[in-house]
Amino acid sequence: MKTHILPAYSPEERVVAASRAAELLRKGEIVALPTETVYGLAADALNADAVLKIFTAKERPRFNPLIVHLPNVDWLERVAVIDSATHELVGKLTKEFWPGPLTVLLQRRQIVSDLVTAGLERVALRVSAHPVFSEVIKEFGGPLAAPSANRFGRISPTAAAHVLDELDGRVPLVVDAGPTEHGIESTIVALWPDRVEVLRRGPISAEQLSKFGPVVIATAASPKPEAPGQLPSHYAPRTQLIVTDDVRSLVVPNGKQFGLLAWSAAAQPTKFAVVRRLTSNEDFREAASNLFHCLRELDQQNLDLIVAEKVPDQGLGSAIMDRLRRAATR
Ligand code: TXA
Ligand code: MG
Repeated sequence: MKTHILPAYSPEERVVAASRAAELLRKGEIVALPTETVYGLAADALNADAVLKIFTAKERPRFNPLIVHLPNVDWLERVAVIDSATHELVGKLTKEFWPGPLTVLLQRRQIVSDLVTAGLERVALRVSAHPVFSEVIKEFGGPLAAPSANRFGRISPTAAAHVLDELDGRVPLVVDAGPTEHGIESTIVALWPDRVEVLRRGPISAEQLSKFGPVVIATAASPKPEAPGQLPSHYAPRTQLIVTDDVRSLVVPNGKQFGLLAWSAAAQPTKFAVVRRLTSNEDFREAASNLFHCLRELDQQNLDLIVAEKVPDQGLGSAIMDRLRRAATR
């Protein structure tokens, strides 16, 4: 299969790209689309054959469920049953954070197939704030299943070129709208009558969520993702990666080429063959949006090791650390 790339920068380009994407989606094809978090690999969520193509292209195990993107909040109760105990909370959260990088797990309706939820009773739902994604889904007119557009276990794509690295020849169309805003995947939450449970950290921090009730962070990563779908090893570069808070005392053995993924300006870059800085002034948002891009670049340098400097474990920093820890697990 030949992969076509359509730019969607100018309003005119967007119209062309959105109508081509919607047309392919209606035919049951998969299409890679930008979202505000990372690029997604989209398919008609209500068409099992189309959804199956996502699993095939990504080489994703079937036990790993997909996030369903809705055209707007009005679709919520068409795909999910919201019980009275969490109704108010759902209303508040979606009002505050949708469209945007928050994914909510809710009891699915029958219209959502087992394939999408991997047999789980809850479906993961969000509304993307990306103008191009919004235009495509509006034109398509229904929910789109869309995991990150990378092969299973690999680094999420934050630019169209990354999607090609991962899926060239496996997807008919990639819509290119430039680098994504947040750079890390959406925050995933499960809602309980008395608390919000964070299953995957992301751009919406626990601090932001705590305005709406007590927040607990799900910890144990399990190999078969019952709830969070969070595998311990994920976002894996091909090069081995370690995370350290002491870059200074790290010794690079003779003849070895180490790369540094730096957080602070204080890190001593001279002993490293390649250095990528997440941010120039310890800004979490900047660091998150650069993370996967920098990792991908380091991974392409044939290094013996990637050394990632620890990021402060707070707010968005926790979401970055979460990705780094998983990238270090193999
Ligand atoms: O920002 C994002 O969320 C991006 C963009 C494209 O929207 N999507 C994304 O999808 O990150 P994916 O498939 O790469 O990650 C979704 C995670 C997986 O870990 C999956 O196991 C979990 O969400 N998940 C999806 N549906 C679930 C469900 N019904 N119950 C529990 N976990 C679920
Ligand atoms: Mg993913």
